[in-house]
Amino acid sequence: MEESSVLHFQKSLSNLMRARFPFLYIPTWEEERVLSLIRLTTSNEALIKTVRKVFTWSLTSGLAEDGQTGREETKTAIKCLEFIETYDHPAVFILKDFHMFFGGVGKQPDYHVIRKLRDLLPVLKQSASPKNVIIVSPTLVLPTELEKEMTIVDFSLPSFTEIKDVLSEMIEANKASGRIIMDLTSEDEERLAKAALGLTLHEAENAFARAMVENGRLDKNDVEIILEEKRQIIKKSEILEFIKTDLKIEDVGGLENLKRWLFKRNKSWLDSAVQYGLPAPKGALITGVPGCGKSLIAKAISAMWQLPLLRLDLGKIFSGIVGSSEENMRKAIKTVEAISPSILWIDEIEKGFSGISHGGDSGTSNRIFGTFLTWMQEKTKPVFVIATANNIHALPAEMLRKGRFDEIFFVDLPTKKERKDIFRLHIHKRLKSPKVIGEFQLTEDTLEQLAELTEGYVGAEVEQTVITALFEAFSEERSIRLEDFIKAIRNTVPLSITQAEQIQSLRNWANVRAVAATVKEDRLGYLDQNIDSKTDASKGEDIKLTRGGRAVDF
Ligand SMILES: Nc1ncnc2c1ncn2[C@@H]1O[C@H](COP(=O)(O)OP(=O)(O)O)[C@@H](O)[C@H]1O
Ligand SMILES: [Mg+2]
Repeated sequence: MEESSVLHFQKSLSNLMRARFPFLYIPTWEEERVLSLIRLTTSNEALIKTVRKVFTWSLTSGLAEDGQTGREETKTAIKCLEFIETYDHPAVFILKDFHMFFGGVGKQPDYHVIRKLRDLLPVLKQSASPKNVIIVSPTLVLPTELEKEMTIVDFSLPSFTEIKDVLSEMIEANKASGRIIMDLTSEDEERLAKAALGLTLHEAENAFARAMVENGRLDKNDVEIILEEKRQIIKKSEILEFIKTDLKIEDVGGLENLKRWLFKRNKSWLDSAVQYGLPAPKGALITGVPGCGKSLIAKAISAMWQLPLLRLDLGKIFSGIVGSSEENMRKAIKTVEAISPSILWIDEIEKGFSGISHGGDSGTSNRIFGTFLTWMQEKTKPVFVIATANNIHALPAEMLRKGRFDEIFFVDLPTKKERKDIFRLHIHKRLKSPKVIGEFQLTEDTLEQLAELTEGYVGAEVEQTVITALFEAFSEERSIRLEDFIKAIRNTVPLSITQAEQIQSLRNWANVRAVAATVKEDRLGYLDQNIDSKTDASKGEDIKLTRGGRAVDF
């Protein structure tokens, strides 16, 4: 299975070349790696049919045929293109540094070069011997004039096998010199290689080298070093962030229905799930009232499934501070795929993709949104996407269509039963010292009473009352009392009072589109809006009596 990403690349590349796609564009940092794969492809008769010679061009050496030195006279881009124009054998021309002429790296586009490339089009399409031009560049820069003629070819990050080969080579080389102690079983070796997934080959090599020199030995403990190195590198990209969290699913109060759904999908990544004919889950969209635990549960999935969690910052993708937006999106997708099985978390997704259905700004955000949706729909790598949204009205309709997310959940104000859970969790979490606890006992009755008093409070407000109560006791240097909690509750004006209308409108939306995250038995005592409520529920009181979202229990 691992082999296949390399093979897949070779196949699609050879198909494009045979079909005479004139210009291919491969955005990647990994020049060496892509070049060696192109060579493998162009010399493989079974794949390419007509074997081709390989030329590479760079600013410093001009055009050079494999095994020969560069031709001095082809150092300018125009001369290089003229050479390609008249060359009459089957060949592939790999052009490095051409993004410079396209308006990359802060330069003006070079219209001579762009024009010359366009002139080359019919020649490449009709020449007697097949000729292909491949642009390899660390960034994707496309001048409008060439947008239609360039085919972008995705080049994934190295597969497990590729990384493992590099590691094995390094180990062999060091064994020979004997300077570094190698203390690894073949299993440890695999673990080290796996830890480096998501890095380029070069980065992986550096990470392994660092692990070796750090204490003069390479052993299973070095997995941590590799992972740390990876975190640093991913952090530098600024788009993705590794979330290290100790949060467990038990730290989330209520939302039992959503928890069960997630629980059933645990291990669906493994081969045994494939035996059941199950596809890897695509992901879930969690919508709902702010402060009710959406982000919290997203983080907790990582521990439940024991998978790495990466947060995608859409704001940064669009800001264009780091690289072009489209390229950022592609890079992010490649990284999570390379690390898969993994979880990709997009918090408050509506902020990134809003305005798209409403005309919004130019083509860029539409294209990025399109890239994302297509990927969601077609991805085969086990990457689970967990997206959260507060303002669902800003979500483009396409995102909600079938085939994108496996399920859309709605997190409403916590029910009484759920508030008991949340109180229990937060009081237990903070109330540890016997001195602070004093005579206070967290009985069922106490919880019942606290939950009763906090109808209409969101989870974050429940947590806040616990904190406020503790402050009260702390400032008087005494142990906590039930009255502290009650006072804190009385002094809180919950969001649901001032925002009743917004909450009602969220529910109206969710009642037809989303499944309630709260399980049925925890909703006992509340009206189901779909069935019971034909009244004008936008008044504060009714908000508290009902709950939204379709009642489907998992
Ligand atoms: N269901 C819950 N269980 C436990 N704590 C909660 C719950 N809902 C909210 N909280 C508390 O409120 C904080 C904010 O919740 P968060 O998950 O960020 O809300 P949002 O739904 O807006 O993403 C959490 O970090 C947690 O401390
Ligand atoms: Mg949130």
